[in-house]
Amino acid sequence: MRIDLLSLFPEFVAQVAGHGVVGRAQERGLLSIHGWNPRDFAEGNYRRVDDRPFGGGPGMVMMIEPLRAALAAARAADPRPVRVIYMSPQGAPLTQAKARELASLERMVLLCGRYEGVDERFLQAEVDEELSIGDYVLSGGELAAAVVIDATARLLPGALNDAESAVQDSFEGEGGLLDCPHYTRPLEHPFGTVPPVLLSGNHAEIAKWRRMQSLGRTWLRRPELIDRDGLSKHDRKLLDAFLAGQTAGPDEGTGNPPGTPNP
Ligand code: ADE
Repeated sequence: MRIDLLSLFPEFVAQVAGHGVVGRAQERGLLSIHGWNPRDFAEGNYRRVDDRPFGGGPGMVMMIEPLRAALAAARAADPRPVRVIYMSPQGAPLTQAKARELASLERMVLLCGRYEGVDERFLQAEVDEELSIGDYVLSGGELAAAVVIDATARLLPGALNDAESAVQDSFEGEGGLLDCPHYTRPLEHPFGTVPPVLLSGNHAEIAKWRRMQSLGRTWLRRPELIDRDGLSKHDRKLLDAFLAGQTAGPDEGTGNPPGTPNP
């Protein structure tokens, strides 16, 4: 996949994307990131990229021409079709499903705004979609673009090692639930013990416990993600068992999540 960034600070995004899984995806040749700075395409001694808004008001608006020229250069750098995405709090919310969709593209351009925004005519003429990473306002689209790149790159085939597989991530499994709790060594610690079922070697019981924890956590933390009536009979039983344990509080003495069977 090829990602082109249109940004006044393209090296900032490239820097963030140079580490960890995304950095490795680039090393493995699964992903390439190319920055385009509209200032390099601006005219005049001052290389101006923004101007005051018509109608007055605070802030500055990014001008059409430097962006248009930078985008034209990005388009021309590779013949494959490209999706142009504007990072904006007015955009559609970024979800795991959207990240999956983006990971199937061969190319995308991420346009990062600064100042009050971008001249609407440029957005109308050149942008295919707007994406938001949440209901808050950042001072620019760069961090949002870095989030989109991370969420997308880790889904590219070969980006994650087997042990890091994305299939058990929150939002990925059946029903788009939150992930279950995880434990590792040491077994005994002043902070608590490990749910005994995880040590049982009984894979069916472990899977059942994890599913129950996912259902219960999602119910408690993100109830809007779960439609209880739409759950399978099996899932509903697991959720009810979780909630029955919940009223009893955490398992006595162990600190284990509710619903953890005793040894
Ligand atoms: N630019 C500024 N705020 C943003 C947000 N919440 N999501 C995406 N891009 C943004």
